[in-house]
Amino acid sequence: MKQEFIPVAEPDLGLLEERYVLDAVRSGWVSSIGAFIDRFEKGFAEYCGVRNAIMLSNGTVAIHLCLVSRGIGSGDEVIVPDLTFVATASAVKHAGATPVLVDVDPATYCIDPQLVEAAITPRTRAIIAVHLFGHPANMTALRDVADRHGIFLIEDAAEAHGARWEGKPVGGLGDAATFSFYGNKVLTTGEGGCITTNDDALATRVRFLKDHAMSKERRYFHPEVGFNYRMTNIQAALGCAQLERASEILSRKAQVLSWYREEFGGSSINLNPVVHPANPICWLVVALLPIGARGRVNAVCQALADEAIDTRPFFVPLSKLPPYAACRFVNQGTAVSHDLADRGICLPSSTRQSRSQVARVAEAMQRALIRTQAAPRPAASAGGV
Ligand SMILES: Cc1ncc(COP(=O)(O)O)c(C=O)c1O
Repeated sequence: MKQEFIPVAEPDLGLLEERYVLDAVRSGWVSSIGAFIDRFEKGFAEYCGVRNAIMLSNGTVAIHLCLVSRGIGSGDEVIVPDLTFVATASAVKHAGATPVLVDVDPATYCIDPQLVEAAITPRTRAIIAVHLFGHPANMTALRDVADRHGIFLIEDAAEAHGARWEGKPVGGLGDAATFSFYGNKVLTTGEGGCITTNDDALATRVRFLKDHAMSKERRYFHPEVGFNYRMTNIQAALGCAQLERASEILSRKAQVLSWYREEFGGSSINLNPVVHPANPICWLVVALLPIGARGRVNAVCQALADEAIDTRPFFVPLSKLPPYAACRFVNQGTAVSHDLADRGICLPSSTRQSRSQVARVAEAMQRALIRTQAAPRPAASAGGV
């Protein structure tokens, strides 16, 4: 009998999303001007506890524009964690700057603040802290390092909408933050991104550059080279609906994670980290295989795929990717990022997932671990999430 397919992450879209998108279409405001853009920007700024949210085309250009608006480019170094989705580093390259890779903390999977200190040189202009898989980086320690060295601190919060550090929401913990609203993210606009900041001058510059750097005083006069990094009103309509449903979406995801915790309780598999004083959210349920299963991630993913269960390996660390392999990589000898990537699997994490589906995944996972122990399988496709 053919088994029901369980996807890794489905968007949670309902009647409210449908209604708002229809409203946007009927209004005729389908490009980057419209009531939903203003409403989403105001609502999201409030959600993050900041003065400014600027909606953009996606999370990658959000990082790029954040750097460029700050004047960061050729000759500058930007510190990024070794374990992240590649966009964090490609945006640095697009800006013409040099990524400096820093290992992650095994407790949070996020950038290790002590190693950040060791990575700083006179050319360091920014630190990008990625809140990986929904767990905030240690923003207290990073703020301290950034302040002592006068370095710009950016949060890449693409995977962490609604997470908190010391009770404060991500998006307002650095000098600026970037978000993604891609289809697999906690809140989605299909494609989409955002910069949040309390720095009004930075926000003004971002708004100017994202819209072809057009003069406010004189139409079609462009004093600089700008970008078209705008979000559409239709996307923002989706975003407004998602934002209204944010707590519902987050609590459903938390419920799915708690079911997995019940299933894997007492096993050798560790699920999403939780380190005080963080209140992480569940973007994806992440499972760390025991040390003995190191290197069997692709075989386990394939075994689950054979049972119609969709998974993802962890991101391939930047230091193992051809464009970044020659970058300076600060670690303590053995890379934590490599170990995590050798053992980490993202499990199905959609809001609509049922208790019985979670049980099915957990049972399949235990079977896969036993099966792959006997005979390692060839690599599965390593698609990113
Ligand atoms: C950590 C991180 N940064 C940046 C991005 C880029 O966002 P986007 O896909 O919207 O360009 C993503 C995800 O896609 C991500 O996970």
